[in-house]
Amino acid sequence: METLELSTRSRDITTAASLLQNRGLVVFPTETVYGLGADAESAEAVEKVFTAKNRPRDNPLIVHVSDIEMARRYAEALSEVEAGLLAAFSPGPFTLIVNRNPDRGGAAAAGHATLGLRIPDSPAALDLIRCLGRGIAAPSANRSGRPSPTNFSMAWGEMSGRVDAVIHGPPCDRGLESTIIRCTPGRVEILRPGSVTLTMLEAALVEMGSDLPVVSSGGKHAPATPGTRYRHYAPSARIALFGNSEELAAALDALKNDKDSTAASGVP
Ligand code: TXA
Ligand code: MG
Repeated sequence: METLELSTRSRDITTAASLLQNRGLVVFPTETVYGLGADAESAEAVEKVFTAKNRPRDNPLIVHVSDIEMARRYAEALSEVEAGLLAAFSPGPFTLIVNRNPDRGGAAAAGHATLGLRIPDSPAALDLIRCLGRGIAAPSANRSGRPSPTNFSMAWGEMSGRVDAVIHGPPCDRGLESTIIRCTPGRVEILRPGSVTLTMLEAALVEMGSDLPVVSSGGKHAPATPGTRYRHYAPSARIALFGNSEELAAALDALKNDKDSTAASGVP
């Protein structure tokens, strides 16, 4: 498949939206990582996302919407706390899991009764969603098991030949996937940590007059997202971890002093 490179200018956004409308796939920038988008209301388009990513079919996709009004179309109902948290952290690196409107977004939900909703803080992403007029189902634009792309060239390297277009936007200023949370009657659960932290969630709840506790999926009672069952973050290079900056500096010095480039490429 030939892949178009598009800019974030309005003419190109219109082209991207019409590709989506015709059940195509478009990679687009967000503030967290690049997303691999499909029309959230087309089961045929969403199916192509799973194929392009080589993603397990039971791992649901987040639906990206432009505002709370659009979010409400995909939710069965938003509780006061859910609407309050969405308003507090959107647009931004924040995904809310809600009970799904049974008539919409079924393919993205991958058989689950819930759906993840997010309003990205990226002008190009918001323009694209508004231009399409519907939600965009989008996982990170990497092939399954590989790191999420945080700039255009990574996204292009992962997805050219597999999608209809890649929008050439700016590098992602967050570079870390969104925080995913779910509200239950008794508490707010963080299913995936991200830039919106537990402390920030607690402060927002206090501000809203809610006394719900926030629990992290690191805790023993909170469930994780389906995606965390699979292999993640597997860069195709060797990685070394250092306990402190001195150890790292010493390893870098050793590399500099090593004139044998083949040995140096394997260390550290
Ligand atoms: O920042 C982000 O969230 C990026 C950008 C593109 O928006 N998207 C992203 O999507 O990271 P993805 O598919 O790579 O990761 C989404 C995670 C997966 O682990 C998936 O299992 C989980 O969210 N998830 C999606 N829908 C869910 C649901 N209904 N219930 C529980 N977990 C869900
Ligand atoms: Mg991902």
